[in-house]
Amino acid sequence: MSVGSLIAADLGVAVLAAAGWLGGGAAASARRRRLALGLAALALVATLARAVTITTLVRAGWWFAAEKVLIAAPLSLAALAVAGPRLLRVPGDIRAVAVPLLFAGYANGGALLVTVLHGYPASAGAGLLAVAGVLTATVVSWRALGSRPSRAAYRVALAVAVGALVTGTGLAVAPGAAPAVPHDHRNRDERPVGEPTRRFTLTAGTATVRVGGRDVAAWAFNGQVPGPELTATAGDIIEVTLRNRDIARGVTLHWHGYDVPNSQDGVPGVTQEAVLPGQEFVYRFRADQVGTYWYHTHAVSDIGVRKGLYGVLVVRPAPVAGVDVPAPGAGVDVTVPVHTLAGVALPEPRSERVEAGTPVRLRLINTDSTTHRYALAGTPFQVAAIDGFDLRGPQPLRDTAVLVPAGGRYDLVFSAPATPVALFVDGRAVWSTGSVSTATDRWPVLDPLSYGAGSPVPWSRFDRDFTLVLDRGLDLRGLLPRYAHTVNGAADPDIPPQVVRLGDIVRFTIVNRSLVVHPWHLHGHHVLVLSRNGKPATGSPLWLDSFDVRPGEVWEVAFPADNPGVWANHCHNLPHAEAGMVLHLMYG
Ligand code: C2O
Ligand code: CU
Repeated sequence: MSVGSLIAADLGVAVLAAAGWLGGGAAASARRRRLALGLAALALVATLARAVTITTLVRAGWWFAAEKVLIAAPLSLAALAVAGPRLLRVPGDIRAVAVPLLFAGYANGGALLVTVLHGYPASAGAGLLAVAGVLTATVVSWRALGSRPSRAAYRVALAVAVGALVTGTGLAVAPGAAPAVPHDHRNRDERPVGEPTRRFTLTAGTATVRVGGRDVAAWAFNGQVPGPELTATAGDIIEVTLRNRDIARGVTLHWHGYDVPNSQDGVPGVTQEAVLPGQEFVYRFRADQVGTYWYHTHAVSDIGVRKGLYGVLVVRPAPVAGVDVPAPGAGVDVTVPVHTLAGVALPEPRSERVEAGTPVRLRLINTDSTTHRYALAGTPFQVAAIDGFDLRGPQPLRDTAVLVPAGGRYDLVFSAPATPVALFVDGRAVWSTGSVSTATDRWPVLDPLSYGAGSPVPWSRFDRDFTLVLDRGLDLRGLLPRYAHTVNGAADPDIPPQVVRLGDIVRFTIVNRSLVVHPWHLHGHHVLVLSRNGKPATGSPLWLDSFDVRPGEVWEVAFPADNPGVWANHCHNLPHAEAGMVLHLMYG
């Protein structure tokens, strides 16, 4: 059982326990004896079952067992201690056990709320607030049900509740470290000198585009979705003029996976101001990374990218004199940028004839906010590159699917067979050389961490270590409270920046404590994967800019701090980023 499903199971049992106790209490107060006993029995079993789920999580090395042990377990024990004995000697009047059952319900519910709302890190403040809430609710029920607690018991409960409330609130609102991300608009001009050798103009505007046989209102570059494909050769100086015709909330261009100088990174409020209607911005950078990349707006990116402000960037190697590099056009080189536009899955399927023996490269690009599953049927193939970086010694694969995270890219290569091949995305054929009817949904999925030829990690020590715990929690620091996607218990803009120095080797550990996948994306750098869930990566060195951290997973990655500036470091499920999951890497 994966840690992810264990967490889900534990949550399920916790909900069952809380609901059982509360329902039992309500039934008892309504004198529904059998219902009350039935629900209480269910709750009892669920509460005991949590002992199993919590111990299994502890044994699986789950990072956050502490909070379960410190908050959920004591409250559950208190629930059992109060409600259990009374259930064993049920009095004639079932109403007499209503308050103990309700107390057990509040205790379990309180622990559950701490887990779901407060998140990481568990704090004494949250624990005390939970206790105060449980006691207050119990006292209120006590009075409402008209039973007469002894004055003393009543006073004690009330005093403890008030005490816990005051201390808990004090601890919870105590100011934490006040982070400040210096937003750097000075824009030191880091653009390369020299004449641009590739010039493009991208004009952002609202547009109606025809997809899947219907007209869709989109935001588009040069009126098309995806935007124009930008191609260059290694060594080119690329210049892109961005204009905004009528996107009221502004646009920018971010070169996803391209480690450009900071001032060209396209993050509004950090590296530049958003380009408003009628304005323009010129980006210039050297094409010194070969491979498959993409660009997209970074202004209100969750909406802008979804509505169509994205496109492909491909940089091909420069031909070397005297070396046998296949001339452009000698092979088939196809980009497959997958996107969901107004419910229509892009790209539209396309079929072409390919001569047997022709080298083919399929560049898979996931521009959506969630993972896509790709399957290439009808031929053995290799994964030549991931996130623009070539893999070492990629073995031939057959009947194997690959999962491309949001923002990620995989290059698949093969030599065209005489029989048809087809590339499927989530079961839908998007590119083919003929008709292939193969069911690919049962295929095993490639694990890139053990694919290709291994090589030792190039560093033996790390100058900085950071831990990022990805979670959900209540964020009360803004104008309105929100249920945010959090990092280390805080949400953007309150997540302290990671401060490094030029030349540092930086390691960071990412832990997903939530129940959803978080595709992680650091700007300006590629990170080398060291391990996942404590198991070292054994395959080809994996230099990634986008990787899925699934529920319960722990990833350890590292990179050399060699590109100064202030860089966004965020979840590429863009609605998550919008809901708080953004921090910054900063050179100090
Ligand atoms: Cu592709 Cu900050 O994003
Ligand atoms: Cu996320």
